[in-house]
Amino acid sequence: MEEYNITTKTNGKIMENNLQQSDLVLFGGTGDLVTRKLLPALYNAFIHNNLHKNTRIIALGRKDLTDIEFYKFSFDKAVHTKNEISSEMWDNFCKLIHYIKIDAENPDDYSLLASFLNTEVTNIYYLSTAPTLFKPICENLAKVNLNHAKARIVLEKPLGHNLQSSNEINEFVANYFKEDQIYRIDHYLGKESVQNLMAIRFGNTLFEALWRRQWISSIQITIAEDLGVESRGEFYDKTGALRDMLQNHLLQLLCIVAMEPPFSLDADTIRDEKLKVLQSLKPLTEESVLNNVIRGQYKAGAIDGKPVAAYIDEENVPRNSYTETFVALKAEIQNWRWAGVPFYLRSGKHLQEKLAEIVIQFKDIPCKIFPSTVNNFANRLIIRLQPEETVQLYFLAKQPGDTNELQPVYLDLDFNKMFKAEHKQEGYERLLLDVIRGQLTLFVRRDEQQAAWKWVEPIINTWKKLNLAPKLYTSGTWGPSTASTLLARDGLSWHEELL
Ligand code: BG6
Repeated sequence: MEEYNITTKTNGKIMENNLQQSDLVLFGGTGDLVTRKLLPALYNAFIHNNLHKNTRIIALGRKDLTDIEFYKFSFDKAVHTKNEISSEMWDNFCKLIHYIKIDAENPDDYSLLASFLNTEVTNIYYLSTAPTLFKPICENLAKVNLNHAKARIVLEKPLGHNLQSSNEINEFVANYFKEDQIYRIDHYLGKESVQNLMAIRFGNTLFEALWRRQWISSIQITIAEDLGVESRGEFYDKTGALRDMLQNHLLQLLCIVAMEPPFSLDADTIRDEKLKVLQSLKPLTEESVLNNVIRGQYKAGAIDGKPVAAYIDEENVPRNSYTETFVALKAEIQNWRWAGVPFYLRSGKHLQEKLAEIVIQFKDIPCKIFPSTVNNFANRLIIRLQPEETVQLYFLAKQPGDTNELQPVYLDLDFNKMFKAEHKQEGYERLLLDVIRGQLTLFVRRDEQQAAWKWVEPIINTWKKLNLAPKLYTSGTWGPSTASTLLARDGLSWHEELL
C-alpha cells in the first residue's frame, strides 16, 4: 500500500499526518448525509492537505447522473449547508470524486464497482443508507470479494431499533467483516469538544482527586436543540429522542464523564473503560422507568420570536403520534467511584436554545464560617460542548469592601479564543480521517453498543406496554414541567433554572 507522511505546521506546532491511500465508497451518495455532511467534511480535509493525493471518493446512488451532474448537485447541497465553500476549490476537490449509478440491492451492479476499485489500497465502504440495506450491501460486496482484508466498513446510526435488531445487524455484518474492520459512527465522539473532555480529565491532575462520589453531588448532561424534526418526520416518528439521542450520544458522553482513567489512548483500552460504565449502570425496571424517565413531545410555540408548529403537525408525522421529541432521566452508576451520585440526562427538540453541556456539581462545604449567601452556583464546573466550547468553574469569592459577604464568581475558559488560529475539524472530518488511518478509538465497539441498548430496553418496553403518552411541552421552553420535578424531588434544579 502506498503511504506517505506530510508534516503540516499549524500555529507553530508540527502535526504528523499519516496519509493512507484509499478508495472511499459512499453508499447513499445522493442522500443528505453524504451531500450535507460527508462531502463537506472531506472537502475540508482536502483543502487542509489531509487527504492522500490519490484518494478516490466513489459516490453510489440510484439517480442517473454523470460525474459532472453529481459535482453540481453535491456542490449546491454542500454550499447550502456551509457557505464558505469556494467553487474553485470544490472543482479541484471534485477531481477525486466519481459517481456510479448502482442499485444497492442488485448483486449484478457490484461487478462494476469491483472493477473500479483498487483493492491494493484501503477500501472503505460508508453505509449512509437505511439499515434495511446493510444486509444486501454486505452480501453483495462479499459476492464480488470486496470484503477483503484491506476493507473497512462504516456503519451509521440507527443501528437497529432495539437490542434484538441491533444484535441481528451486528451479527450479520460480522459474517463478512472482522470487528476491527467495523467503524460504528457516533458523530459526537468526533467533536473536538468531546475529545477535550478526555483531555481535561486525563491530561491534568487538578480534577481527578475530586472526580468521585466523595466530592461530587450530582451531574447533568444536556443536549438541547432549537430545531424541530424538519424534513425528517418519517424517519423520526419511528425513532424518537430515546433512540436518536439518548441511546448513543448522551450515553457516550456519560461514559466519557464517568469512565476510569484509561492507561493509554489505544482504542480497546478506551472502549473497555467505557463499556464498564455502561455495564455498571443500575438496571431500570418498569417502576423506575415510570418514576425516573420523562417522555415529552413538543406542541406549537415560538422559537426566537417566530411561531413554530407542534410535532404532530410536522410533515409525515401522524396526528396521533406518541413519539417523544424529548427525554430526560435519572441514572445511577453502581461502582465505587459513583455509587449514590445521580446523573441527570436530557435531550429534546424545539427547546429554547441549541446547546450541549455537562454540569458537575461539587458538594457543599461541610460548615459555613461566612455569612450565609445565595450560593447556588458555587462549586460548579460547567463544560459547554456547543455552540461555544467553554469551561467555567464557579466558586465563591469575597465581595470587595468592608464586608465578609461572598458572591459567586467564575473562571472562564473559551477554547475558540484560545486556539483561534487552528483549523477546527468538524466531527465527521475527524472521524473520516480516523477511518482512513485505521484508528478505532472514536468508534463504538459492538459490546458497548449492545450494553447501551440493553440498558435502554426497559424504557422502550415500558412505554410500549403501557402505551405511555408523552407529556406535551410548549416549543421554545426547556421541556415538560415533569423534567424539572425529576430534579426538584432531589432538591435540585436544571442549570438554566438557576440563571
Ligand atoms: C443526530 C440526530 O444524530 O444528531 C439528529 O439524528 C440531531 O436528530 C443531531 O439533530 C444533533 O447533532 P449536533 O451535532 O447538531 O448536535
